[in-house]
Parts: sequence; structure tokens; C-alpha cells
Amino acid sequence: MPAQYNKKVEITALYEISKLLGSSLNLKANLRGVMKVLSEYLDMKMGTVALRSDREVSIIAAHGMSEEEIKRGRYRLGEGIIGRVAKLGAPIVIPNIGDEPLFLNKTGARQMIRKENVAFLCVPIKFKDEVLGVLSVDRLFSSRGISFEEDLRLLKIIASLIAQSMKLYREVEKEREAFLEEKEILTRQLKSRYRVENIIGQSDRMQEVFEAIHRVAPSRANVLLRGESGTGKELAAKAIHFMSPRAKNPFIKFNCASIPEGLLESELFGHEKGAFTGAMSARKGRFELAHDGTIFLDEIGDLPITLQPKILRVLQEKEFERVGGEKTIKVDVRLVAATSRDLEGLVSEGKFREDLYYRLNVVPVFLPPLRERAEDVPLLVDYFLKKYNEENLKSVRITPEVLGFLTDYDWPGNVRELENTIERLVVMSRANVATAEDLPLGMRERSVKARYPVHVKDALPSTIEDIEKTNILDALKRTGWVQAKAARALGITPRQIGYKIKKYHIKEA
Ligand SMILES: Nc1ncnc2c1ncn2[C@@H]1O[C@H](COP(=O)(O)OP(=O)(O)OP(=O)(O)O)[C@@H](O)[C@H]1O
Ligand SMILES: [Mg+2]
Repeated sequence: MPAQYNKKVEITALYEISKLLGSSLNLKANLRGVMKVLSEYLDMKMGTVALRSDREVSIIAAHGMSEEEIKRGRYRLGEGIIGRVAKLGAPIVIPNIGDEPLFLNKTGARQMIRKENVAFLCVPIKFKDEVLGVLSVDRLFSSRGISFEEDLRLLKIIASLIAQSMKLYREVEKEREAFLEEKEILTRQLKSRYRVENIIGQSDRMQEVFEAIHRVAPSRANVLLRGESGTGKELAAKAIHFMSPRAKNPFIKFNCASIPEGLLESELFGHEKGAFTGAMSARKGRFELAHDGTIFLDEIGDLPITLQPKILRVLQEKEFERVGGEKTIKVDVRLVAATSRDLEGLVSEGKFREDLYYRLNVVPVFLPPLRERAEDVPLLVDYFLKKYNEENLKSVRITPEVLGFLTDYDWPGNVRELENTIERLVVMSRANVATAEDLPLGMRERSVKARYPVHVKDALPSTIEDIEKTNILDALKRTGWVQAKAARALGITPRQIGYKIKKYHIKEA
């Protein structure tokens, strides 16, 4: 028996191994090849390579084991010999596994061998100080004559080759994951078939809005935009104009609720010199200014009934007279109107003309309230964070907890309120990360109520802390006091739940 490996065999084996490790991007297959070389050239029976993760180490390739046996080869860090080597990062040699209680034989692969004849060598696969896995081999006593030191030296060299390859493989995996993630984002964006510049939203509800805008924009049809305050009606009106053949012509915006009733007519239709006291010179109205373009009449529900026939005429006949004028003026104007009011109610109360209502309502587009499309909140938050960070030369981010509050909040002021909230966070935040404390208290409370309406009813009047405590307790009960699960159920991190359990002195009854 040689006292040490035949150098030539050793070098050939190492050469084969390094070749194998670089042969493909299939780490498992490469390692299987390596184990085979080990057994063939170096007379080591049964060998395994295990991969370490945060909590355990599991065999991913082996020689002399069935797939079933490989599957059983999973160890907690510190468990058995492989687990220990993974945990400590130092080699362990068991000269005779028959004498060793730590030897678990979990895989059951060694039933056929009389244990007394087997030595077990186990070395960490390390890259710098990081333990990536464990390499182990069995050696039969009959092939002894080589010192364990010799064996270890060689195994360490092989382990370091494997380590480099594992590291490389991980990098490639990471890049692949990043690539896949990016691809997923791109396909998701492509899937949202319709996009409208400056309007953010991937929810089905917003997709419908985008589709309607795309359909209606090229025509000259009147559009009536409906939706609560702050849902983006004005944004949609602009989009329709700029996506229409009139894009290069004027977009004139006018809010019917913004000025006193007496001035409305001359604002909209203009006046001749001396038409009324103070009319020093003739002036064009909004309809004239919008010639060949689009007029956006906001708050159309506030249009006084006395003025409605004149609007109807300009829509139907495309003509009108200025206040105090006799000359009929022809215009080609497309009308986009908006309202947050109940127009149908106004019609039935006789405050809005039915014929005008039908004229306006050729294509109605409904902008959904933000609370009905909470999935758009994170997108909008990103969008406004970017916008206001750029504007304020800051780089404020928000915690997942803050995003949770923002997503659960019911947003009575819709996107406008969200935009204002983010602007305030960015402007006011002294640190680079805004936390829940930076949100207005009212918003946090409403958000919690939206998330846990039942508890709020039970517990009124209670503080936000009471609500939070109750919810944590409930979640813990529901999940059998598994903190990680309860945290997941609540949408917070295990660390956060740990902190809150301490803070509220929550104990298992
Ligand atoms: N989907 C969206 N994506 C990006 N910004 C939006 C979106 N919806 C609304 N906004 C922004 O929110 C604010 C309010 O929008 P807009 O003025 O269009 O709402 P509105 O429906 O006209 O509200 P109001 O009825 O109160 O006039 C604007 O600053 C607008 O840019
Ligand atoms: Mg508006």
C-alpha cells in the first residue's frame, strides 16, 4: 500500500474534477461527475456534496446512493456530522463510524456495509469565510495505509474547487433571477395593453379606462368623465385631447363652478365692447379660444340651467353669439366634460336639462375611486416618490409598514390625497426612510380600521395600540402562536411582530 497518493493519479483526478466543474451550468450534474471521479481515481466509496442554506444543509449530489437516499439527506445546522461541519466550518474525521453516536446514517445508505469498516471524512466547502456546503466521503478500512491527513488535504483542495464553482453558479443564478424578474415586469407591462401617458394604473378597472380613452380619443365624440374628486378626471381629459387629431390645437379648460354665475356666459362665449358695464373692449370666450381644439368643461353639473340652452346650441349647431353681439360665430370644438355630481339626480330634479345630458353623455367614462383599486397604490406611491424626490433633490424611501398603511387606507380624496401625502412625506422627512410615525395619525387610524373593521366595532372607543394588540393576539391564536406565520398573516416582518409582542407584553395564555 502506498503511503500517499500516487501524485500522477492525484493530479489527473484534480484535472478531471476541475474540467467537470466547468462543464455545464447544471451544478448537480457536475457534482455527480465529481463524486464519480473521486470514487474511481481515489478509491473513496460513497461520497456526498451537500448545499448549505440559512437553516439546513442538504445533499444535492452523491455517488453510491439512490435518489431516495439523497432526498433523506437533510440536516439542520449542527445536526449530525454534516450539520456540524456546515455550522462550524471545520472538517471532522470519524475513524470508525461504528463507534460514533453522532453518526446518524439518516439516509440509510450504509445498511449494506458493516459500519466498523468505514471511516467518514467530512470537510466544509468554503469560499473565504462563508460555508457554502459540505463534502463528505466514506473510506473502507481495507484501503487504509493512507493517513487521514493525506485524505483531508486532498478533500480540502477538491472542496475549494467546488466552492468556486458553487459561488459562480450562485452569481449566475442571481443574475438569472434578476433577469426573470425584469422579464416578468416587462410582460406585465405589455399585458396592460393600453397605456396612457401620465396616468398610472394596472388594475383591471384602470385598464378599462385606458381602453375607453384609446377608443374615444381619435373621434370627435363628446366625452363625459365621471368620478369622485381626485380620481384623475382632468388628467383623462388632457389625455383624450393629446391623443386626438386635435392635439396640436388648443386645449381650453374651464371650471363651471369657479366663477359667479353672472360672469359665466361672457367667460364661455366672450362679449362685445360695451356689452355690460366694464366691458371696455371686445373679448373672445373659451369656446372661441378652443376653435379646432378641445374644451374641457369641469364641474359641468354646476352649469346654471339658464346657460344650458346656449351650450346645447354650440354643441349641436356649432354656433353662438358673443354677449352683446349679433354676429353669429362658427366654431369647431370638441367637448370633454367632467363631473363628480349625480347628474341623473339633477336631471330628475329639473336642475339639468335632459337634452343636454344626452348630448354630453355620448361616451361616459368612469374613473374608479382609489379604494376600489388598492393594487394600484404601490405603483402610484412609487411614481409620486420619484416625482417629489426629484423635485426636492431628496431620496426618501418608505418602509413596508408605511406602504401597508397606504394600501389599506380608504383614500376619500383619491389620487390627489395620495399625491399630497407622498409630497408631504418627502418634504417633511428628515431621514431617508419615512416610517409610520411620519404619516398623519388620522390616516393610520383609518387605515387600521379599514383593515380590521370588525375589531374596531367591538373595541370602540379604543386606541390604535389596543387595536393593534388585539389583532396581534388574534393572529397568534389563529396560527398556533407561530410568530413567523402570524407576522405573515398581518403583513409585517417577524422582527416587527417580535418587537410588538414585547411592547404589548403579549403572552400565550
Ligand atoms: N392615475 C393617476 N396617475 C397619476 N396621477 C394621477 C392619477 N389620477 C390622478 N392623478 C393626480 O392626482 C391629482 C388629481 O387629479 P385630477 O385633477 O385629474 O382629478 P379630478 O378627478 O379632476 O379631481 P376633481 O374632481 O377634484 O377636480 C392630479 O395631480 C393628478 O395628476
Ligand atoms: Mg378636476
